[in-house]
Amino acid sequence: MATVKFTFEDKSIAQPLVIENVDVDTSILDLTEDHDIHLNHNCGGVCACSTCHVYVLSGEDDLEEISDKEEDFIDRAINPRLSSRLGCQCVILSKDAFIEIEIPDQSRIIGHEH
Ligand code: FES
Repeated sequence: MATVKFTFEDKSIAQPLVIENVDVDTSILDLTEDHDIHLNHNCGGVCACSTCHVYVLSGEDDLEEISDKEEDFIDRAINPRLSSRLGCQCVILSKDAFIEIEIPDQSRIIGHEH
């Protein structure tokens, strides 16, 4: 089972938040939904917006590869970096994965959750 460690750009949120026993084939967006972590997802997780933008600090190799379409949407995200991904497209591939994710400050994103 995989492990995902979340940190938050918004320092008012208690961190880090470590989630263990994560099933393979779970996306980072699914995980945020399941654990009440605020991550916007305006298109509903179909790679058609950039509101689920996250930073992958480590463990990138154990995630589904980035697609051209995802890269296009990342370009439209606020403050993209080399580590940027879309949370709905980051599907965990390995049961031994240890993935570190930073969630951007959601107050700067016009979106909705849940
Ligand atoms: S929720 Fe829209 S691209 Fe991920």
